[in-house]
Amino acid sequence: MDPLKEHTTGQARVAELLERERQLFADERPRSKELFTRAGKTLLNGVPMPFMTEWPGDFPIYVADAVGAEVVDVDGHRYADLCLGDTGAMTGHAPAATVEAMMEQFRRGASHMLPTEDSVWVAEELQRRFGLPFWQFALSATDANRFALRIARHVTGRPKILVFNWCYHGTVDETIATVVDGIPGPREGNLGPPVDPTTTTKVIEFNDVPALEAALAEGDVACVLAEPAMTNVGIILPDPGYHEALRRITRETGTLLHLDETHTLCAGPGGCTGAWGLDPDILVVGKPLASGLPAAAYGFSSEVSERFLAGWDAEVSVTGGLGGTLAGNALSAKLMRVTMEEVLTEDAFRGMIALAERYTLGVRRAIDNAGLPWHITRLGCRAEYRFRATPPRNGTESILSEERPLMRFMHLYSLNRGVLLTPFHNMALMSPATTEEQVDLAVDVFDGALAELM
Ligand SMILES: Cc1ncc(COP(=O)(O)O)c(C=O)c1O
Repeated sequence: MDPLKEHTTGQARVAELLERERQLFADERPRSKELFTRAGKTLLNGVPMPFMTEWPGDFPIYVADAVGAEVVDVDGHRYADLCLGDTGAMTGHAPAATVEAMMEQFRRGASHMLPTEDSVWVAEELQRRFGLPFWQFALSATDANRFALRIARHVTGRPKILVFNWCYHGTVDETIATVVDGIPGPREGNLGPPVDPTTTTKVIEFNDVPALEAALAEGDVACVLAEPAMTNVGIILPDPGYHEALRRITRETGTLLHLDETHTLCAGPGGCTGAWGLDPDILVVGKPLASGLPAAAYGFSSEVSERFLAGWDAEVSVTGGLGGTLAGNALSAKLMRVTMEEVLTEDAFRGMIALAERYTLGVRRAIDNAGLPWHITRLGCRAEYRFRATPPRNGTESILSEERPLMRFMHLYSLNRGVLLTPFHNMALMSPATTEEQVDLAVDVFDGALAELM
């Protein structure tokens, strides 16, 4: 039997290849290495953000330019960017329309704590795309989730929220929890949690209807916070009928349904909510909404908005836990507008999804030719290969199938041949600027990596 089919016995070969690629990576990037060494004297771990240590080489590449779907590093290497800032640059880097609108609006004022017509346009467009009538703005999806959770607790008068095991919704305290062998607790690596997250949060597995029924039966959960399809532990699609059950059970128990479409916007202009006809009470979207500049939005149903406004007091609202001085600023509103009006349009999504289909077909063919028990899943304009034969149904199944050294090799091999993948998973994302040539390069490189492994 082929050793890689056993998922473990091919490890010696993976380690050998990984070492070769690590050396090649370092040898070809002296300037990035030099910057990383210099950064070690001032930046914690040599990087501006902790997760930047997760790139597969011994140091990250330092970027000189990022335009369209291409990144150029300080050593002059060019990469087809399938990471796209893990969705932040789903628009492609520096789309011309956004650049122009940014310059124009900045000259006319960025932040004055007053609304502009653009904010009205953006809310109207979000309403059209996602179906929810009322909207507020924030500067990041993390913040939008945080504010939406406050609203959910406020209007229901309930203390807890429910999330799915191995979810990620930004650095929101209540969500950094996990359940292992039926025992809930802080997720590994949860730094200095303000309280034990089990006091704020219930955690169950995705796609488990009886667990959902049991967890909501007590009537103490303000909202279920969920990605319509999980994307942060790889792509996990809902079982057929799962969303119907989720909506029915949340309604029956008076629990709000809060969908986070920050990543699942890849499913189409209205995310999964638009593509699958979902009906949440609260919805959050961020990251690419302003072409990767800080902006996010959260929307809610008429009922949530009425319940919220019933207790409204303008005097105390300032310190009530929502917003921030820069949230909803004129520049963000302009950039959200131009992104939806000219960049992430319905037409653009059609092209992006076609590219993801092309990539999926190519990768699937390579997997089949190699006879490996792997598969690829697609969600709109994003696709992901996995080192297992069937798609996982929940976070635990997904985590258990992780093959870190193998993933590191695949990513480093790609990086060394001009293809940039997000370090946390095997997803490839298409932007309106991505080309068929870039997709074909990524497929060829994937094929090449399999040939090495076999
Ligand atoms: C589903 C989801 N929601 C929210 C966030 C947080 O986004 P940000 O870090 O831009 O606040 C992320 C980040 O990866 C995410 O994947």
